[in-house]
Amino acid sequence: MNKKLLTLLTIVLSGFLFLSVGILVAADVPDQLVLENEGYAKDKKGPVKFNHKKHSADYKVACTDCHHVYKDGKNVWKKGDPVQKCSKCHDPKTKQGKVMKLQNAYHRNCKNCHKALQKEGKPTGPFRKCNDCHEKKS
Ligand code: HEC
Ligand code: HEC
Ligand code: HEC
Ligand code: HEC
Repeated sequence: MNKKLLTLLTIVLSGFLFLSVGILVAADVPDQLVLENEGYAKDKKGPVKFNHKKHSADYKVACTDCHHVYKDGKNVWKKGDPVQKCSKCHDPKTKQGKVMKLQNAYHRNCKNCHKALQKEGKPTGPFRKCNDCHEKKS
């Protein structure tokens, strides 16, 4: 087989591999989540409905933009690894060293991305109006 053909074949095959891995992982990703943690000093706001799958499948946000396990300051979490709740590490009541409180962790993750995208003039999610994310508390 000549070299060009071999290269082409490799590209095509790895493309298929990538695709099938993508589909397998996508099936493991929950569609929608309701973010509603307990343990806050005060639970002031209603729960947040979060389109989990849309964020990765449609908005093309990488899993590692939201999921992490830090080791020596580097995010070593990768697709397929188990996912722990944010609250497992980010305490709702107290900041622990560099690990910010749960509310701040969420706001920093969600709002900062949306804000940054707007600055770039791209379609994005809410970051100003609280109730664009939080449901009204009953
Ligand atoms: C981009 C979405 C988003 C926006 C906009 C947003 N929040 Fe949040 N907020 C969250 C998420 C997600 C949580 C975590 C929810 C949980 O754990 O129950 C949270 C948690 C909180 C909490 C702690 C949990 C609770 O229910 O008391 C407070 C207080 C809060 N937000 C206030 C605000 C206020 C005030 C604003 C507007 C200035 C706001 N948020 C805007 C996503 C958002
Ligand atoms: C925009 C942020 C974001 C992206 C992108 C994202 N996730 Fe998540 N994911 C979350 C949040 C928030 C939770 C809920 C965590 C919690 O409840 O504490 C979650 C939960 C999960 C859970 C646990 C679900 C459950 O029912 O407990 C799995 C598994 C998961 N994500 C896998 C993935 C994979 C795989 C990708 C990439 C294909 C991905 N996530 C992309 C934010 C994200
Ligand atoms: C296994 C523990 C662990 C889990 C689970 C975890 N975090 Fe973190 N997170 C950390 C640690 C440790 C840091 C501090 C890293 C540093 O500054 O060196 C951090 C930092 C952050 C930061 C600031 C730096 C950055 O990466 O942007 C945000 C925002 C954040 N976490 C949000 C979240 C959200 C949202 C979830 C759930 C989807 C989550 N974290 C789940 C341990 C965790
Ligand atoms: C790294 C970037 C990024 C992060 C992190 C992120 N988002 Fe988004 N979000 C987007 C983009 C991009 C869109 C919409 C793009 C569009 O409309 O085409 C969006 C849209 C939304 C919308 C409106 C549309 C919909 O699907 O509901 C909500 C609500 C939202 N995000 C909530 C959240 C919450 C809650 C979190 C944190 C748990 C979060 N986002 C984290 C990029 C991000």
